[in-house]
Amino acid sequence: MGDTFTCLLALALLHVALGAAVGQTDGRIRYDNYAVYKVKYESLGQRNLLRQLAEDRENFRLWHEAKDELHVMVSPSGLAEFQAEVLQANATAKIFIPNVQELIDIETTENARATSEDFGWKKYNSLAEIEAWLDDILARYPVITEGFVLGQSYENRTIRGLKISYKSGNPGVFIESNIHAREWITSATATWLIHQFLTSEDPLVRTLAESHDWYIVPVLNVDGFVYTHEKDRMWRKTRQPSAISSCIGVDPNRNYDSHWMENDGASSNPCAENYGGPRAFSEPEIQAMSDFVGSIKTKLNVMLAFHSYSQLLLSPYGHTDEEFPDNYDDLMEVAKAYGDAVEAFPYGTVYRYGSAAGILYTASGATNDWAYNEQGIEISYTIEFRDTGRYGFVLPPVHIVPNAEETLIGLIALLDKCKSLGYLNLKY
Ligand code: ARG
Ligand code: ZN
Repeated sequence: MGDTFTCLLALALLHVALGAAVGQTDGRIRYDNYAVYKVKYESLGQRNLLRQLAEDRENFRLWHEAKDELHVMVSPSGLAEFQAEVLQANATAKIFIPNVQELIDIETTENARATSEDFGWKKYNSLAEIEAWLDDILARYPVITEGFVLGQSYENRTIRGLKISYKSGNPGVFIESNIHAREWITSATATWLIHQFLTSEDPLVRTLAESHDWYIVPVLNVDGFVYTHEKDRMWRKTRQPSAISSCIGVDPNRNYDSHWMENDGASSNPCAENYGGPRAFSEPEIQAMSDFVGSIKTKLNVMLAFHSYSQLLLSPYGHTDEEFPDNYDDLMEVAKAYGDAVEAFPYGTVYRYGSAAGILYTASGATNDWAYNEQGIEISYTIEFRDTGRYGFVLPPVHIVPNAEETLIGLIALLDKCKSLGYLNLKY
């Protein structure tokens, strides 16, 4: 009996110990004292030196790259090496997020505080919450809305979309959102837009909603998105393992079969954030996009891919900055209309625009290039939402509605301009 008691006591203690350990780490990857730096440079050589850092995924993660700067998250133990590299490259670095975990903790608290019946856009919702909300929309607006299934993810989740159509004979606009897992503001914005299209009483919004057919996929990278909610807030890629590496996932926005892997537009290293995959369309999520969009391409006049962050409107091409699309001038005029409208809005948010390779970096195999080059969708952009780096991917939820509002204002201007330039004529 004494033995049984000791044994039970030991079990109880073990249980407490395990519980504490799990409770503490929560099974989530933590970013205590990981800092994000903005590194400025002038030459390609400097950039390549610094870029190499990112191959050590444990210590460095690339957050953002542009012609003259990159943003990199540095672990506490990688700091010395980082400083040495910056010195060696003769570049300058400025810290702008001192502790990434602190931002994540604030976000987690806010997500938990907002009540569960309140989808609300005061917090970031999980995939399950977004899907339940979609079901509710479908039940409430059975005539105007229609659900569609894009396909299955690697982990066998269903990738869902919503079509909104008030009448026949409308030009079509496709919105792809959350292809990159950590860019939570994109699905928050896409769902807010859906809500406005269905409920707004503003005449401008009514016209926008009712004179286009909307195909909206709030979360394309479902596996990655769930992973960011449950394990690693900073995950970008898909979750399919590699046959040649222990690193997981492919950059889905480098996986489309359009100039795939050309011009250093993607990495062949499975550990890189911009790994293009073992072949084009290796990712089931991207194959599904290709099949679905391909099947309705004559109905589509506009393709928009939602990303964050940087406040940019990016047209094709992504694979080269030496050539430009035939209708580049129009694409810039349309982008300007978007940017002007957003800037004139009370928040005064400034968006820059240009071709992806022209103002950012070469990135091949992206959604908007594939839509433009291979599907004949002549108005095709990547939109990079707020902010410019203060919070980066961990944009506080108070930004959700303002970001979405200015997106809506921008869309009205963008589609007006498309119409006046003759891009919304029916192809079917
Ligand atoms: N931040 C986006 C990415 O890295 C930019 C994509 C730009 N678009 C393009 N066609 N390359 O995926
Ligand atoms: Zn992105």
